Amino acid sequence: MDWRPDRGLKVPLYLQIKQHIQMKIENGEWTAGTKIPTQRQLAHMFHVNRSTIILALEELIADGLIEGKAGKGTRVINNSWSLMGSQAPPDWNKYVKSGMFVPNAPIIQDINQTEFVPEIIRLGTGELALDLFPKEKMKAILNRLAMNVESMGYEEPKGSLFLRKQLADHLHSKGIETSSSSILITSGSLQALQLISIGILHPGSIVLHEAPSYLRSLQLFQSAGMRLKGVPLDGDGIEVKTLKERHSINKSTILYTIPTFHNPTGTTMPEKRRLELMEFAEKKQLPIIEDDAYGELWFDSPPPKPLKGMDKGGLVLYLGSFSKSLSPGLRIGWVVGPESVINRLADIKMQIDYGSSSLSQMAAAEWLASGLYDEYLHFIRSELRKRRRLALQVLDAYMSKIAEWTIPSGGFYIWIRILPEISMQKLFECAKKAGVLINPGSLYDPSANQFIRLSYSYAKEGELEEGIVRLSKLINTLQKG
Ligand SMILES: Cc1ncc(COP(=O)(O)O)c(C=O)c1O
Repeated sequence: MDWRPDRGLKVPLYLQIKQHIQMKIENGEWTAGTKIPTQRQLAHMFHVNRSTIILALEELIADGLIEGKAGKGTRVINNSWSLMGSQAPPDWNKYVKSGMFVPNAPIIQDINQTEFVPEIIRLGTGELALDLFPKEKMKAILNRLAMNVESMGYEEPKGSLFLRKQLADHLHSKGIETSSSSILITSGSLQALQLISIGILHPGSIVLHEAPSYLRSLQLFQSAGMRLKGVPLDGDGIEVKTLKERHSINKSTILYTIPTFHNPTGTTMPEKRRLELMEFAEKKQLPIIEDDAYGELWFDSPPPKPLKGMDKGGLVLYLGSFSKSLSPGLRIGWVVGPESVINRLADIKMQIDYGSSSLSQMAAAEWLASGLYDEYLHFIRSELRKRRRLALQVLDAYMSKIAEWTIPSGGFYIWIRILPEISMQKLFECAKKAGVLINPGSLYDPSANQFIRLSYSYAKEGELEEGIVRLSKLINTLQKG
């Protein structure tokens, strides 16, 4: 909640809080049946003592607006509609539970909220640090657009033709040969995944993926009735041998993979494994979703060509995005694939949102066409390389006896195995209390419960160091306790 009582007013704090909650009930924001946060949570949210909250709640109870029941928490029991004698609104809480989309895991909901708590050190966030944002270049691009913009109507179903042409050129430099008609612009690659899940797969389809995988932290495919099956991953990426031996592939199977700077492990699949995977996929006619969100972010030498660059038979749907390399707020991603698939996904996208923001598409195209994107990538790679070095130095200094990890050659993440047998849930909670937010490994694989995904991309350099130091102290304490 972003409201706080105003300490400068003459109205007592408890009364301001009572009035605020009453307003939420009267406006229909909190309908009858809504469970309100606990006293402790409210005190934390409003930055007041618990005794202030108790006073406010007592008044609301006396007015017949809320009711507390032992073991069931405090709920709204009345609202302005029933106070005025009109029909009560529908029980939204029932509707909320019955939508087809599976909710996020509670810990992910918690992370999504806590990321915005001021002062928290974010060691799990998969985003570039805000101070790396290319403010001046973005200003120049937006100014140029402002001078030239003629209209801002809906774009073609596959997205701005100018942007798709720029992307086709950009992809050519990565070894992918494609043309604008085989590219669909999406609102980030997440939307591409959703379009694929509802557009070309069906309930009961099996989605194979690396274990662990970013895909496990989402509910997209599960919400559409698909089953996720993990395939182990070694230092060279997904184990094709295990894929061959242990998984039967049929017409309802698809493989999702992040071959380059994998999320969460940082692993990159060498060319030999890529060729082996493609050979197997061709033999079995196994379609592949290749997620290349981090592919531009290499440190010392470019990674091997994407699977899509080796794909002669149109097996690969290739996903790209500006989110990790430039700005997630643009919400610009793309899918490259056989035209029939792209046409189908574009048709669904037209039904869902009639195209991604044309302003964002214009800006993205300008970044590519002006050459500023390539220039910026140069800068961002060297900044990320520095951050990786710092993270590894601090890990060596403070965690070498209590953890082990591998060194990524690009991307954002270090996958850390915590050696003492401590609960990661407990570590997560204690770290949060100590002002450090981490992503436990179990978000990406239920059995990865001795791991955390450390991101060196987001926290400021001083914070990165401080966060790792605090974490190491907590691990040592929990180990003793
Ligand atoms: C592997 C991978 N794919 C896709 C996404 C989503 O990115 P976008 O912002 O383009 O939707 C992420 C974000 O964390 C990611 O790590």
